[in-house]
Amino acid sequence: MIVINTIAELQIELNAHRQDSKQIGFVPTMGNLHQGHLSLVDVAKEHADIVVVSLFVNPTQFGPGEDFDSYPRTLDQDCKMLEARGTDIVFAPNMEEVYPKWPNITSVNVAELDKLHCGASRPVFFGGICTVVTKLFNMVDPDCAVFGEKDFQQITIIRRMVTDLNFAIEIIGAPIVREANGLAMSSRNGYLSAAEKDHASNLYKTLQWAKSEIETGRRDFRKLEEEANKNLAALGFTPDYFNITNQETLDLAKSDDKKLVILLGCYMGKVRLIDNITLNL
Ligand code: PAF
Repeated sequence: MIVINTIAELQIELNAHRQDSKQIGFVPTMGNLHQGHLSLVDVAKEHADIVVVSLFVNPTQFGPGEDFDSYPRTLDQDCKMLEARGTDIVFAPNMEEVYPKWPNITSVNVAELDKLHCGASRPVFFGGICTVVTKLFNMVDPDCAVFGEKDFQQITIIRRMVTDLNFAIEIIGAPIVREANGLAMSSRNGYLSAAEKDHASNLYKTLQWAKSEIETGRRDFRKLEEEANKNLAALGFTPDYFNITNQETLDLAKSDDKKLVILLGCYMGKVRLIDNITLNL
């Protein structure tokens, strides 16, 4: 595995692989890796010959007062984990490489979808993600890129961006990886104590409960959302949203929709956690 910090070196290395007709797979990350990220590397290896993982904590997707400054930067540990998992190239650019003129005044926004769910309380979040992912796609120019389905709204928006901007990149979703208690793996779980992680498993239990209510016939989705929010609040969480949505549009689901995803965002103390569960009726 090689670690590269500049776009120029990355492109020399990748051009050599392209000349050998190798397919390039890309996994963008903000580092502080866990088993969920490593599963994305596994998926990329199934689809490509050369796997590039980027490690870059992207400032433009954090709003004022969010955890950009305190977001854990764990480069050495991340590189060890990636090497053990068979990554070929780690791309760890610095701020000047990614944003040569700061502040950037060009951004990529996927309208409408970026206002829903997470976007309602994090107005700059998806614009920042789409901007940095566009930049990284331009730098790496991969054949495919892998994103985790835990960030269901993110992958939906990236797919739409790739279509709208004619990127010739296949976007591959990788299933959510969970702790033994059901808690979806996330870098932000690192902010939680063992007891808090145990309690946070109630998020997945609440999603499973709502899913089983729907599977056994309930179609009063708005009432079900209200009940779930009340249950979460009673458990000490501060719910941001609990939305039963259409899997393709991410609009609030209608009672006759068949492909659903229940999206959940909430705070446990100051820690923001998200999760989701899909249903095909
Ligand atoms: O999912 C993430 O870790 C980030 O949003 C991404 C895609 C690496 C962009 O910074």
